[in-house]
Amino acid sequence: MEALLDVRELDKHFGGLRACDRATFEVEEGKIAGMIGPNGAGKTTAFNCVAGFLKPDGGLVRFDGEDVTGLPPHRMFAKGLVRTFQIPQELDTMTVLENLMLAGEDQSGEAVWRTWLRPGRVRREEEALEARAHEVLEQTQLGHQAYIRAGALSGGQRKLLELARALMAEPKMILLDEPGAGVNPALIRLLSEHIRELSQRLGLTFLIIEHNLDLIRQLCDPVVVMAQGRVLDIGAPDEVLANPEVQAAYLSGQRT
Ligand SMILES: Nc1ncnc2c1ncn2[C@@H]1O[C@H](COP(=O)(O)OP(=O)(O)O)[C@@H](O)[C@H]1O
Ligand SMILES: [Mg+2]
Repeated sequence: MEALLDVRELDKHFGGLRACDRATFEVEEGKIAGMIGPNGAGKTTAFNCVAGFLKPDGGLVRFDGEDVTGLPPHRMFAKGLVRTFQIPQELDTMTVLENLMLAGEDQSGEAVWRTWLRPGRVRREEEALEARAHEVLEQTQLGHQAYIRAGALSGGQRKLLELARALMAEPKMILLDEPGAGVNPALIRLLSEHIRELSQRLGLTFLIIEHNLDLIRQLCDPVVVMAQGRVLDIGAPDEVLANPEVQAAYLSGQRT
């Protein structure tokens, strides 16, 4: 059976720099895959090429059996592949519920003019959006925070809200770029539990870039290791971390 996400020979260049250099990996449905590698390895670039925020210079991205290479983010969102973002400060004054509704609206690529032309339909869509937002609030156990401002959330709840915003798309797959960055170990554990639960309950597939190897070990299998734009190894966490080539890449990465 074909993997849910299949990335073949992905190339992305910035001037003379090969940020992704024939990177090849796949993620099967229902897995929580990790992506590790030294700084500058091309992890974020690969993510952005997959989620549509960057156009690859070469290679193939297949998602859910379709060639989606180079599709823009809102098309990927509609197909069920989303990446999370930090919540911008401007959204701090909005409630958690409003944040979710906005995320559902934003990325659908809809135009404002429709409000004028089809007010009835827009109202129905608003209602559907709100219903979906409440569903997501339950899934992420943020239900009791629906009407508080995003700016008043704790660090951990804010991370959950980032995840919840991605869930608005009813995605098949979520990409997370360093969810553990700047988060204390207790919150990392909590976030890991939420991710695992969402994966089990909703059958969601994850791909997670993370520096925290504890989180990777607890949560991810397989782990994709990138170095200098290429995929060095893919396998179970203990397996790839025991690979001398991977260890060497990390050591040389740390010196730069
Ligand atoms: N928009 C960009 N313009 C130019 N160079 C970039 C850009 N984005 C990333 N790079 C370079 O591409 C390489 C890979 O970066 P990145 O994908 O962010 O790595 P990682 O996420 O693994 O740390 C780095 O050398 C980085 O400086
Ligand atoms: Mg990065």
